[in-house]
Amino acid sequence: MNIAVYPGSFDPITLGHLDIIRRAAACFDKVLVCVMVNCEKSHPMFAPQERLALIRQSVADIPNVEVEQWSGLLADYAREKGVHILVKGVRNTADFDSEVQMARINAGIMPGLETVLLSASPQYTHFSSTMVREMARYGQPMEQYVPAPVAAELNRRKEN
Ligand code: PNS
Repeated sequence: MNIAVYPGSFDPITLGHLDIIRRAAACFDKVLVCVMVNCEKSHPMFAPQERLALIRQSVADIPNVEVEQWSGLLADYAREKGVHILVKGVRNTADFDSEVQMARINAGIMPGLETVLLSASPQYTHFSSTMVREMARYGQPMEQYVPAPVAAELNRRKEN
């Protein structure tokens, strides 16, 4: 079985992430979305369990996707799962440069661990989880940036 890992902080998952998950799920037998909990910034907007739940709701219609969390090194997760393919999305040359560096680091830890870079779809190249968190703090509508479950949770928080 051809399995790929799609890792990230996902604080929160965006429509750009979801697009990469869907496209990866069309390329591989199974995609493991790995929520990296130790990568959270000092003040994450969503706790790891909330991120997991929001991703699970967002991918509920994609049968070959599983969502897990991991608090160690990404390469150790891949090794534990017996997976040798990582999928990353790239929006621009800055992403490309940092992902190539990360790919070499990950392959250095686990020889044979390959990173497949998927180019972001054009409608998702101009925003990030960081931007979503910032706009959400100012009460901006988020439906065009995040999956419906995330938008609903942000709206719920805005009202409380
Ligand atoms: O999309 P993100 O949140 O910037 O990506 C985070 C992650 C873990 C996918 C990326 O930093 C990475 O590939 N790191 C490899 C090194 C590692 O395993 N770090 C673990 C602690 S963050």
